[in-house]
Amino acid sequence: MHLPPTPRTSSTLQLLRWIFTPMSYMDECASAYSDIYSLNVRPDYAAVFISNPDALQTILTSDTKELSAPGELNNIFTPILGTQSVITASGKQHLRKRQLVMPALHGERMRAYADIINQVTSEVISTLQIGARFSIRNVTQTITLKIIMQAVFGLYDSPPARELEQVLKNILDSTSSPLSLAAATFPIFGKVLGSLNPARDFDTLLQQADKIIYEEIQERRSSLDFEKRIDILSLLMSARDEDGQAMTDVELRDELMTLLTAGHETTATALAWAVYFIYKNENVKTKLLSELNSLGDNPDSNTIFKLPYLTAVCNETLRIYPVGLLTFPRRVEKPISLCGYNLEPGALVYGSIYNTHRRKDLYPNPEQFKPERFLERQYSAYEFLPFGGGARRCIGLAFAQFEMKLVLARMLTSVQLELVTKTKVNPKRRGLVSAPDRPIYINRLL
Ligand code: HEM
Repeated sequence: MHLPPTPRTSSTLQLLRWIFTPMSYMDECASAYSDIYSLNVRPDYAAVFISNPDALQTILTSDTKELSAPGELNNIFTPILGTQSVITASGKQHLRKRQLVMPALHGERMRAYADIINQVTSEVISTLQIGARFSIRNVTQTITLKIIMQAVFGLYDSPPARELEQVLKNILDSTSSPLSLAAATFPIFGKVLGSLNPARDFDTLLQQADKIIYEEIQERRSSLDFEKRIDILSLLMSARDEDGQAMTDVELRDELMTLLTAGHETTATALAWAVYFIYKNENVKTKLLSELNSLGDNPDSNTIFKLPYLTAVCNETLRIYPVGLLTFPRRVEKPISLCGYNLEPGALVYGSIYNTHRRKDLYPNPEQFKPERFLERQYSAYEFLPFGGGARRCIGLAFAQFEMKLVLARMLTSVQLELVTKTKVNPKRRGLVSAPDRPIYINRLL
């Protein structure tokens, strides 16, 4: 197979760089090889990373007979999400699951989520003491976890909901270290690490989470009015596929776990970066506040959602430090030519979101946080793709964008904050996604 260029170092060194310093490694590879390169970072196949918009369009929109997006390639998620999650499912099953879950995260439903988002944000902000210093990611994670719990289960302040919140935080913390990723990719490494493996308590935590989720499902099944409830669990229980089939308990558990985990960590990190950049750049903060204040008291959530500068700030945040560095892998099914290289069936191709968002031809001075670039130019879906694209495009895209904007609007207009961390914060790996490399401290002034 004629593979795209790869660094002239051993597979072990490639893997170590990928696990411990992924962003600087991707920067180096993009400067050396530009649009396309391959790295030996999977136990099965070499991974081809692509950041050329035309090639991205090809891989994300090709017919599934040419490039597929099978769930078995995402089996690193199986221990948490199970085999029945939309992320781990393939082909027709994958499509069926997307069709069952998507209505709960789109359209009219967003209006109901606006109230939840505003209420939770105000409640969490009110607990921040004036003059106290706090880590912004802890705050945004508390907000997004409570929001997704409320959206999924309809209540977050009950004892089981509070317990589940804590267990989910612990599960994600235990899998956030690069060592846990190495152990999950290569189980032999996990055995060598033994009690040093940060994910050693993982099975116990997962059992605790499962117990609470299955009890909640059972309670709904035995309560006659669940069809009248409007939370995501009730919607999923009432949903029927083309053949009139409802989801099984295992399917429901796997989907809930998917939404609870994918649905809060990512947005929490994006919000933490947004707060960092807004308060680091005085002119950005001033422009944003002036746009928000022009709306008067109690603006409608849809009006906030459409604000041009707020939208540009959120886009620039997701561009500069995309939470997901890559799309899920696509597998070549028929020989295909990409950026001048012929890829044979079996090759695994990733859309490199991080590299695409740093292309100098699209984003001059890519290291600079400049929301105005999104006002000066329209980017295509293959030039700006923080939520991936095609068959596996993020199903929480609308929810996440809505949430980011409403949380920021509420935060900026109801409290005065000051950035305590003055030195530059960089992104680092957090499990399979990225996050700030150290706490970003904020002080509440008023
Ligand atoms: C800022 C926040 C978020 C970012 C940056 C993000 C990013 C992504 C990316 C890059 C993908 C892979 C797409 C691909 O391979 O083409 C993805 C998939 C996915 N996301 Fe998100 N996401 C976010 C929020 C959410 C939320 C709020 C939810 C749920 C409520 C969610 C649920 C999912 C699911 C279920 C998938 C898998 C879709 C599939 O396999 O068909 N995400 N996301």
